[in-house]
Amino acid sequence: MVILRDMIESDIEDYVRWFTAETEWMDWDAPWEQEETTPEAERESWTEYFEQVKALPKDAPRWKFEIELDGRHVGWVSRYFDLDYVENPEKIPAVGIDVPERDARGAGVGTEALRQFIEYLARCGYRCVYTQTWSGNARMLRVAQKLGFVPYACMKDLRTVRGQKYDALTLKLDLDTEEQT
Ligand SMILES: CC(C)(COP(=O)(O)OP(=O)(O)OC[C@H]1O[C@@H](n2cnc3c(N)ncnc32)[C@H](O)[C@@H]1OP(=O)(O)O)[C@@H](O)C(=O)NCCC(=O)NCCS
Repeated sequence: MVILRDMIESDIEDYVRWFTAETEWMDWDAPWEQEETTPEAERESWTEYFEQVKALPKDAPRWKFEIELDGRHVGWVSRYFDLDYVENPEKIPAVGIDVPERDARGAGVGTEALRQFIEYLARCGYRCVYTQTWSGNARMLRVAQKLGFVPYACMKDLRTVRGQKYDALTLKLDLDTEEQT
């Protein structure tokens, strides 16, 4: 079973591992943005982040949830408003997702987690959401397609990944006519 929840203390070491040792997911999530880091730096910043989450009032809007699969922390979903190359004066949230645990992928977890997060955003009052990816990320594009996202903006050849040019893609989902599989 897939659930979304707030961060708990034991998640800190998962983040340290995902940002320093098991980093394959970064080859797919904005690989043009990778930065050098250390376990110590990650531990410090995720501990700080955990303290912020812990202090949130129960009913405060969330910008990020952890993904738990059958009791195991496998990734996260998040939202943001500062889109790359797309103006966003209406402050429509863009949703992002990562499942760094490779053995949890390809079995519907990403789609189900994002579906739950979009439902949460709909309950918060948002009428549409964006997601941004690149044309080489077939799994993310398939997840977006399964959830009913449609193409919104395309910047041809904006991204260079492993020596090849790819399009930067923004997709949009209208929550009033949302179709989910
Ligand atoms: C993208 C990601 C979140 C998707 O999560 P997931 O649990 O693997 O997704 P799902 O299993 O729900 O769906 C994946 C779909 O992609 C399909 N797929 C897998 N590999 C594929 C490929 N090479 N080409 C096309 N489709 C592919 C799967 O078959 C599945 O579709 P289906 O249900 O029709 O069979 C996850 O793979 C991940 O974290 N990847 C690395 C980080 C990343 O890319 N993050 C997104 C950045 S924009």
